[in-house]
Amino acid sequence: MNIPRPGRFITVEGTEGVGKSTNIAFVQQWLTEQGIEVVLTREPGGTPLAEELRSLLLAPRDEAVCNTAELLLMFAARAQHLSQKIRPALARGAWVLCDRFTDATFAYQGGGRGLDTTPIETLEQLVQQGLSPDMTLLLDLPVETGMARANARSAPDRFEQEKLQFFSRVRAAYHQRAEADPQRFRIIDAAPALPQVQQQITTVLADFLEAC
Ligand code: TMP
Repeated sequence: MNIPRPGRFITVEGTEGVGKSTNIAFVQQWLTEQGIEVVLTREPGGTPLAEELRSLLLAPRDEAVCNTAELLLMFAARAQHLSQKIRPALARGAWVLCDRFTDATFAYQGGGRGLDTTPIETLEQLVQQGLSPDMTLLLDLPVETGMARANARSAPDRFEQEKLQFFSRVRAAYHQRAEADPQRFRIIDAAPALPQVQQQITTVLADFLEAC
């Protein structure tokens, strides 16, 4: 089945260890099975230059990283990603499925690092020029559970090295974003077993597709 539709922009968000990778692969497969061309990408990253910025941002380092520098690097990567990959894909009618986007900046740099939201909103406007996701899946899990899952993986990156309190602020900021924009956000309870999580995701995707 090949349904011609204008491109849609879907983002997936959540704190560490919520099962983002597994569930994004599930979303990609589900959409592809509906005959939709899906461009899977991620932030920070998604183009060669933006992936270089990702490496700079995630690498643990001795030098303290200034919060404003971190914020600007996130948006520098985003500007490149939007111009080289996201906008061209949407323009030709593909669906873009992005592992994190600007909600992560509000959650991590705003909530986690404590930056004021006003400059984040200014950069959002400058870089996105009104383009924002059509739907955002927020995979939600208590921070303690997520961190226990994430810590079982390989060496932590610069963000994963943060403490529990940091991720509690990140989660709270995500919840605030979701409450402020209930039309766009779909909160997925990531605590149950995977089949139940994916059942929730299927319901959300089917409703979204129906409304397209
Ligand atoms: P991940 O893609 O493996 O989740 O790693 C990306 C990390 O970057 C994650 O810890 C969240 C962080 N991040 C921000 O702090 N701000 C942002 O705007 C984005 C997109 C990611």
